[in-house]
Amino acid sequence: MSFERIVILTGAGLSAESGLGTFRGKDGLWDAYNVEELATPEGFARNPTKVHDFYNMRRGWLADVRPNAAHFALAKLEREHGGEVLTVTQNIDPLHEDAGCSSLIHMHGELARALCAACGASRPWTEDLSLATGCPACGESGYMRPDVVWFGEMPREMERIYAALGACDLFVAIGTSGTVYPAAGFVAEAHRAGAHTVELNLEPSEGATLFAETHYGSATEIVPAYVESLLQGGR
Ligand code: NAD
Ligand code: APR
Ligand code: ZN
Repeated sequence: MSFERIVILTGAGLSAESGLGTFRGKDGLWDAYNVEELATPEGFARNPTKVHDFYNMRRGWLADVRPNAAHFALAKLEREHGGEVLTVTQNIDPLHEDAGCSSLIHMHGELARALCAACGASRPWTEDLSLATGCPACGESGYMRPDVVWFGEMPREMERIYAALGACDLFVAIGTSGTVYPAAGFVAEAHRAGAHTVELNLEPSEGATLFAETHYGSATEIVPAYVESLLQGGR
């Protein structure tokens, strides 16, 4: 089988071996921090400084992390595969871009960007930025927030994602627990479009039975191997 239009969905497990913790596994981020206080619009309204501190801490973690072999393998697939390859990531880290990936959608936003809650303008996050920073687009201050999608908010570029899922012939989910919608429902959309569906993960996700093919192990091992098999045209 060779594939023309590939959609790849990635989750926190892809960045785990770069040293960024996942959300729900052992030592998951949501075991250590209260998701309702730190990753919801209500939590930000209640205590914006606490939320800013949480995301400044997570931004600090980015300083020492680098893409791993799985990120580089996906960038190689995008470069060398003759067809269309779109990566949709739930991750807010920049490791896909750092590895050379450009056909990319950050459906949960980006940790390295700031959003003005007053006018919706997004721009790179800078060290001096805080809640009080005035927005260069609308001039309002007191509305600056991390440009990430919180629980209860709509993920980004959903129309473009569903169009790609409806036209793909291969859907690969990598390093995601399949617990959070709408991403957890993408495999069913791809299957409805007649795509071959593959799960690459450390262990079976909540949606494992929905995939036609599964490979389990560390992303830095199974993702490069799977990409090589695709590029050899053996798929
Ligand atoms: P959702 O309602 O489908 O989320 C429900 C899932 O989110 C639950 O199954 C659970 O896995 C998780 N969740 C919700 N509350 C939780 C809690 N208190 N502790 C641990 N896990 C919890 O998705 P949503 O609420 O509509 O969120 C919209 C989008 O925002 C989702 O795609 C979500 O992934 C995203 N999000 C992003 C961030 C971030 O920091 N980038 C944080 C949270 C949510
Ligand atoms: N290699 C492959 N998979 C791994 C690895 C690894 N080294 N380490 C962990 N995993 C797998 C885990 O088995 C788990 O299934 O990655 C998955 C991580 O799941 P979560 O921690 O739930 O992360 P994710 O699925 O990305 O969460 C979805 O929820 O909190 C929100 O917005 C947040 O984007 C996040 C969304
Ligand atoms: Zn503004």
